[in-house]
Amino acid sequence: MVRPEVGASVQHRDLEGATALVTGATGGVGREVALALGRLGADVHVHGRNADRGERVASDLRGLGADASFFLAEYTDLDQVETLAERVRDRVDELDVLVNNAGAHFDEGRLTDLGVERTFHANHLAPFLLTNRLRDVLASGGRIVTVSSEVHRRASLDFEELTAVDAYEGLDAYARSKLANVLFARELARRTDDLTSVSCHPGFVPATGIWRNAPLPVRAVMLVLSAVPRSLTFGRVDTPSSAAVTPTFLAATDREDGENGAYFRDCAPVEPSPEASDDALAERLWEWSAQRVSL
Ligand SMILES: NC(=O)c1ccc[n+]([C@@H]2O[C@H](COP(=O)([O-])OP(=O)(O)OC[C@H]3O[C@@H](n4cnc5c(N)ncnc54)[C@H](OP(=O)(O)O)[C@@H]3O)[C@@H](O)[C@H]2O)c1
Repeated sequence: MVRPEVGASVQHRDLEGATALVTGATGGVGREVALALGRLGADVHVHGRNADRGERVASDLRGLGADASFFLAEYTDLDQVETLAERVRDRVDELDVLVNNAGAHFDEGRLTDLGVERTFHANHLAPFLLTNRLRDVLASGGRIVTVSSEVHRRASLDFEELTAVDAYEGLDAYARSKLANVLFARELARRTDDLTSVSCHPGFVPATGIWRNAPLPVRAVMLVLSAVPRSLTFGRVDTPSSAAVTPTFLAATDREDGENGAYFRDCAPVEPSPEASDDALAERLWEWSAQRVSL
């Protein structure tokens, strides 16, 4: 399926009266998703770490007529995720949409205070905890969109690797965390009957902060690619705004029967990797994560 341009597929949807939280919305894909949801009429609260950029996005959203606020939280610190959840719960009566978009890539392997590899902690454990802590403010019929990546296809999930960094490789760790995103969305859908939970690949976007910790040659390639107009790449290279289309579509439209828990690319469900379709693995990851965050 050819992905529609930003807003085109969802322009007619009315999110007036709906409330959304978009994590990692200080820049990149998340900022564009937040603004797109604001244009559709939703009140949109945003999260990130850079307060200046976050406040600017909230202010832009208010300029669109939305109620908006910015929440700061570092995802490698679960106490900050707990506080984020508390602050969101204090701020909103109900959440209709949660977009788990925040994500990071780290070139250097480290364990967090919890003893978990940092990428997995930030990209999987943090949204896992946030979503569960927000469970009772998520409106019946609410939509949870977890932003994964096609790179999940190169990953496998060895639980021993989640608490070790001896053989750390940044892209492998990132891919593993993105596999966990697909498994989490799938298992969440299985565990809830009043919510829709899906995951997606937004696109390949060289012009975002996700590459900031990548090795210099990778950063150089991304810099060059981000200067190439999308039309010259046959749509293979995205801008933050073209990459916002699929997450926005999922946040703003109802799913068909059988699509709950699915993985999407270009606004359509696609088969994820065999490992990402493994229900037993999804359940095991949920139990492992729940234990880690003392759910
Ligand atoms: N770029 C791509 O090609 C691509 C492809 C597939 C999937 N994705 C996924 O798309 C999502 C958005 O990425 P992006 O490309 O838009 O990258 P980005 O520009 O770096 O945006 C990432 C967002 O996450 C926040 N974030 C990063 N590390 C964090 C941490 N430790 N704690 C809390 N928040 C943190 C950032 O906050 P601050 O900036 O305020 O620090 C920022 O708002 C990610 O989940 C990524 O895995 C990206």
